[in-house]
Amino acid sequence: MERTRGGDLGMKEFNKNEDIITLAIESSCDETACAILKNGREVLSNIISTQIETHKKFGGVVPEVASRKHIENIDIVVQEALDESGLTFDDITHIAVTYGPGLVGALLVGLSYAKSLAFTLNKDLVGVNHIEGHLSANYIEHKDLKPPFITLIVSGGHTHLVEVKDYGVYEILGKTKDDASGEAFDKVARALGLGYPGGPIVDRLAKQGNPEAIDFPRACLHNEGYDFSFSGIKSSVLNYLNSMKMKNIEVVKEDVCASFQEAVVDVLSQKAIKACKDKGYKTITLSGGVAANSALREKMTKLCQIEGLDLKYPPMLLCTDNAAMIASAGYYRYINGRRDGMDLNAVPNLKINQG
Ligand code: KG4
Ligand code: ZN
Repeated sequence: MERTRGGDLGMKEFNKNEDIITLAIESSCDETACAILKNGREVLSNIISTQIETHKKFGGVVPEVASRKHIENIDIVVQEALDESGLTFDDITHIAVTYGPGLVGALLVGLSYAKSLAFTLNKDLVGVNHIEGHLSANYIEHKDLKPPFITLIVSGGHTHLVEVKDYGVYEILGKTKDDASGEAFDKVARALGLGYPGGPIVDRLAKQGNPEAIDFPRACLHNEGYDFSFSGIKSSVLNYLNSMKMKNIEVVKEDVCASFQEAVVDVLSQKAIKACKDKGYKTITLSGGVAANSALREKMTKLCQIEGLDLKYPPMLLCTDNAAMIASAGYYRYINGRRDGMDLNAVPNLKINQG
C-alpha cells in the first residue's frame, strides 16, 4: 500500500451522511493516550495514561523508559477508550495516529500499534502531526470555531505563532529560535529545585510572588517579526540564582517564578495580539501545555478584551498531551482525503506544515 494525500490510492469511499468515528492514538512523549471522537468534535472517550511519576525521579523524560512504558500501557489504554465509548472496533471509521514530532522510540510504539489495528481491521490509517493536534484541541471545546484565525501553540517542545488559513492549511508566522516556552519553564523549575514538570509548579508558586521583583529580559519583544527566544531568560534566571548564592542571600522562589513567568507571558501575549491585528483577524486560540498557564490565560483575556479580539483556549485536560486532539486533527485530514499506508514512519522532527 502506498502513502497518499488526497489521491484515491488505498482510499475507501466514505458516506458523507454517515457519522465518522475516529479512534486516535498518541504516544509522542510521556503520555500513552487513546480517544474516540464522533465527527471530529464530539468526544466519546478520552483516556490518558501519564508517565510523569516514573520520569519525575530523573528530572525529565527518559526516552528509553518512555518507550517501554508505552508498550506496557497501550493495549490497556485502547481497550479502556473502547469500553468508555460503548463502541466496538466495528464502529470505528478510521484510525488516526501521531507520527511526529516527538521521541522516535515513543512514536514508534503508537504508530506500530495503529498500523496493526488499521491492517487487521481493514480501516484507513491517517498520520497526524502532533503540533496540528495541539491546535485542533480548540475545535473540540469550541464547536463554532472555524478557520481562519491566529493560533499560539506553546508546549514543552514547541512555540509557534501560526496563521490557520483553513483546516490543515498553515502559515508559520513565528517560532522560537532556541528553547520552547515550556522547556524554559521546566529548566527554571529544575534550577530552583522544584521538580518535573516545572510549568504547573512555577504557575502555582508565582501566585504568591511579586512579578515585578526581578526585571528579567523580554527577548524579541520589540523585534519586527514574530519569532521568540527563551534561552536568554533561562540564562538570566540561572545567573540571578548564582549571584544570589555568591552573595549568600536567600532567594525568594515565589518572586523568581512570578517575575520569570511575567516576562515569558508578556512576550507570548504581545506577539500573538500583534500577529492577529497585523493579519486582520478577530480570533486567537491558545494551545499546548503552556496554554494551561493561569497568567498567560489572564493576560491574553485582558489584552483581547481591550483590543476587541475573541480568545479561545481548551480546558486544562486538552492543553497537555492527549489523543482527543489527535482524533480531531485526524478527522479533518480524513475528510480532506489524507490516507497513509503501512510504510508511514515516525518523523521525530516533523514540522507543522510538512505533513
Ligand atoms: O503539550 P505538552 O503536554 O507536551 C509537549 O508537546 O511538549 O506540554 C508540556 C509542557 C511542559 O513543559 C510543562 O511544564 C508545560 O507544558 N506546562 C505548563 C503548565 N502546565 C504544563 N507551563 C506553564 N504553566 C502551566 N500551568
Ligand atoms: Zn504536546
